[in-house]
Amino acid sequence: MAEKLTILVGTMTGTAEMVAEEMSDALAEAGFEPVTKPMDGLDASCLAAPGLYLVCSSTYGQGDVPDNAMGLYNDLVARKPDLSGVRYGVFSLGDRTYAETFNFGGKKFDAILEQCGARRIGAVFTHDASAGTVPEDEGVKWVKAWAKLCQGAQAEAA
Ligand SMILES: Cc1cc2nc3c(=O)[nH]c(=O)nc-3n(C[C@H](O)[C@H](O)[C@H](O)COP(=O)(O)O)c2cc1C
Repeated sequence: MAEKLTILVGTMTGTAEMVAEEMSDALAEAGFEPVTKPMDGLDASCLAAPGLYLVCSSTYGQGDVPDNAMGLYNDLVARKPDLSGVRYGVFSLGDRTYAETFNFGGKKFDAILEQCGARRIGAVFTHDASAGTVPEDEGVKWVKAWAKLCQGAQAEAA
């Protein structure tokens, strides 16, 4: 049976959303059942169900998560729920021009999820908008490798 997977999208100007859409297609092709949710209006309860999650978030302000991700991020920090049933990956978007806070959006999500006991699969991908690469292409390439890691981890656990 296809494993369900929730893609949580934090974005200000829509780039992360476009990446998430293409990653969702690639994940469906790889045999998952992905559901994409913009982070707008979400709180920590969106991670209550054990399972697989993919955070796709950009970075704004001075290394902040985007506005639509603030509610979820702040709720995780305030409540620190037990997320030991959560496995996750992070595709982070940023720009190296912001040298001091490069990709802090995705990195902040990674740090709080780890503090809540969730288990990350693979490394955090940090996209650099100043590098001239197409984020959707990078996203699809990364997520295909990530999907294999998830499937490997699943086979090990079985
Ligand atoms: C006002 C503003 C502030 C930003 N601050 C940061 C930052 O602190 N660190 C970083 O790595 N990128 C920063 N970025 C770059 C964005 O994260 C990057 O362009 C990303 O691809 C935008 O994705 P989105 O359209 O999904 O929001 C900033 C961009 C803008 C316009």
